[in-house]
This record gives sequence, C-alpha cells and structure tokens, in this order.
Amino acid sequence: MNILVLNGPNLNLLGKREPEIYGQESYTTLVERISDHCLRQGIGVEIRQTNHEGVLVDWIQEAAGKYDGIVLNPAAYTHTSVALLDAVKAVGIPTVEVHLSDPDSREDFRHVSYVRHACVAAVKGKGYAGYLEAIDLLAKEI
Ligand code: DQA
Repeated sequence: MNILVLNGPNLNLLGKREPEIYGQESYTTLVERISDHCLRQGIGVEIRQTNHEGVLVDWIQEAAGKYDGIVLNPAAYTHTSVALLDAVKAVGIPTVEVHLSDPDSREDFRHVSYVRHACVAAVKGKGYAGYLEAIDLLAKEI
C-alpha cells in the first residue's frame, strides 16, 4: 500500500506559527512522525507541502494509478476550494481529511469544508497524532 500525504499553505511554518493552536513542534517533526509510523506499518508514503492551490490540484491528479490513498490537510484551502473537492472526486482515490486543530470549534468561516464532501473520513483536533489516525483509517478503507 502506497499513500500520499499532502499539506497545504502555512503548514511549513509549524512550530513558529500560532503555537497555542498548532503546537511547538516543527513541520520536520511531523514528517518524521508520519514516516516512522508508515515504516512500522509497512506502508509506503510520500509527504509533501505547498503553499499553492494549483500545485495541490496537480499532485492529486498525478496520484491516480500511483497511490492507493491520500491524507489531505488542505489548511486554509479547506474553506475555499471547490477545485480541490473536484480533484479528489475526479481521481476517486480514497482520501481522509485531516486538521491539527478542530476547525469546527473555531471561527465561523472555518466551519465549511468543501473537500469533506469527497472524503471517506475527517480527523480533527488531535494534533500530529491525527495524521497517524488518518493513515490507519485509510489502511482499513483500502
Ligand atoms: C488547519 C485548519 C485551517 O482552518 C487552517 O487554515 C490551517 C490549518 C489545521 O490543520 O488545523 O491552516 O487545516
């Protein structure tokens, strides 16, 4: 099983960015946690981050035929992007939405998730551990 973990804008700044919400640990630490978890489970994983919506769309499209599942934290694009929703629908690869914080308990504008309509599950508010839970959910789904 091969999975793709995609992270959207500003997640490269983890550890520096609003640590009271997103924690003190860096993006590099997140990548290490995910890599270790997948290694232990015998899951192949590629982990990427971009600040650009179109790049996320390209990566989702290119995942077809290469990856069995996607873990997606679209960050702010969660709340704005029909393009990401359409990309996930178009490729039909099982996708789990993940968020470090719980957007549903924050500002009203974070309560909308477009991509959720195409995802098999959403994991929110569990910090870095949420990514590992999302991977395990995906493994059961595939
Ligand atoms: C986030 C939540 C989003 O509302 C926010 O724009 C982010 C991060 C999270 O992981 O909690 O950038 O996706």
